[in-house]
Amino acid sequence: MSRILALTAHRFPDDSRVNKALIEALNTQPKVTVHELMRTYPDYRIDVAREQELLQSHDAVVMLFPFYWYSSPAILSEWQDAVLTYGFAYGSEGTKLHGKPLQLVVTTGGNPQAYTPEGYNRYPVADLLRPFNAMANLTGMDYLSPHLVQGVFDMSDERLAQEAAGVVKLLQKL
Ligand SMILES: Cc1cc2nc3c(=O)[nH]c(=O)nc-3n(C[C@H](O)[C@H](O)[C@H](O)COP(=O)(O)O)c2cc1C
Repeated sequence: MSRILALTAHRFPDDSRVNKALIEALNTQPKVTVHELMRTYPDYRIDVAREQELLQSHDAVVMLFPFYWYSSPAILSEWQDAVLTYGFAYGSEGTKLHGKPLQLVVTTGGNPQAYTPEGYNRYPVADLLRPFNAMANLTGMDYLSPHLVQGVFDMSDERLAQEAAGVVKLLQKL
């Protein structure tokens, strides 16, 4: 496994059940640096130099977050705005992220059926995540197929443990 930076985003980390369990599982992995953005920057004042250093000292990037309004929690959006700067992440000399795999791990309240043309969310999650795909493209990252943990509201503890093990397995392949 390469060195993996897991950026995790949640509005209220202490109130989380599902993302908290996934983070606990990732914390058992020596090659994974779990970086909880909301705990680090509760005031949203992101240390850009530190974040860019972290990105450069890891081989792969994971973004773990609950789906909020068909996107990520605001702290991850703020992180992108602040950290992915011209000359670092894009532009003719902005090559620092080139070739790094980007793996999204997204938890959704809706189940897979809800994200079909007949379902109440209409569009597939993969389509709704296209801005991340486009970001990876512009920054030269290798966008991997997003990993979804779905239907989380009535998920048993047993299944949650299985999902956490699945995420660990997925990262071990990176
Ligand atoms: C503000 C907010 C917006 C949400 N938007 C969506 C959504 O667009 N689609 C969806 O499937 N679930 C949505 N949910 C449900 C969350 O994805 C779900 O609560 C989360 O994945 C559970 O993870 P946690 O236990 O770590 O908080 C939303 C929840 C909140 C609080």
